[in-house]
Amino acid sequence: MGTRAAPEVVVLTGAGVSADSGVPTFRDNGGLWEGHQVEEFATPEAWRRDPLLVWRFYQLRRAALARVVPNAAHVALARLQRELGARGVPVTLVSQNVDDLHQRAGAEVLDMHGQLRRLACEGCGARVWNEDDVDPTRFLACGQCGNSRLRPDVVWFGEVPYELDRIQAALSRCTHFLCVGTSGVVYPAAGFLAHARAVGARCTLNALEAPENLAPEDDFRPGRAAEVMPALVAEWLADGTLGA
Ligand code: OAD
Ligand code: ZN
Repeated sequence: MGTRAAPEVVVLTGAGVSADSGVPTFRDNGGLWEGHQVEEFATPEAWRRDPLLVWRFYQLRRAALARVVPNAAHVALARLQRELGARGVPVTLVSQNVDDLHQRAGAEVLDMHGQLRRLACEGCGARVWNEDDVDPTRFLACGQCGNSRLRPDVVWFGEVPYELDRIQAALSRCTHFLCVGTSGVVYPAAGFLAHARAVGARCTLNALEAPENLAPEDDFRPGRAAEVMPALVAEWLADGTLGA
């Protein structure tokens, strides 16, 4: 009875998808940077209290982007989006990562936590592309209004993620949901899995260890993303429920 929903995919990625490229995750190995937990310095309060500490962390991460390249997981996810897209099956790729490795692998991404390669001005709201100025010892001024400290255009704890409307809309329609390399502890992203389950989507997760929000009915594929993703994508591209 009735017609089956048109297939549609949502993919959510986290730090683990870039781990095989050499980008450090937030919570593995104790999860400290110079003795600080991410929740301590990725906040607007930390930026007001100790802006140089926060700036240094992000400038070091911005500089590190030049030394990393996409891995087989980024390439496989870009392939999934391209090949299912060609069959008329939308693939919305949402990333909590602020690196640009999905983009460099050729994918179109909703960067819900922002992007390291952009800076933003709290004075005038300007958002500027800047990949070259990565000196961790000095702030950069806004070229539009003169404000002396541009901030990284990333979403901090206590701030509202980008693209939530588009993400919620895609989740409401999805028939297949895939989580890659995310510990499932930071909301609202960690809640996307429950949303996908509630609309009846088939939910698949990859990480090294079972994510916090994993349920018994989910399909958990443990292992390194660079190894697990190419095989999983090949499996999905051959799956009859996805138009194969
Ligand atoms: P976490 O550091 O919390 O979790 C990393 C996840 O990746 C864990 O589940 C690991 O098991 C998994 N992992 C590690 N190496 C992997 C590999 N090679 N292959 C596959 N999985 C691997 O990172 P996120 O969940 O992305 O937000 O963190 C979520 C948010 O918290 C971040 O976007 C950031 C952070 O604080 C903000 O800064 C607002
Ligand atoms: Zn400005």
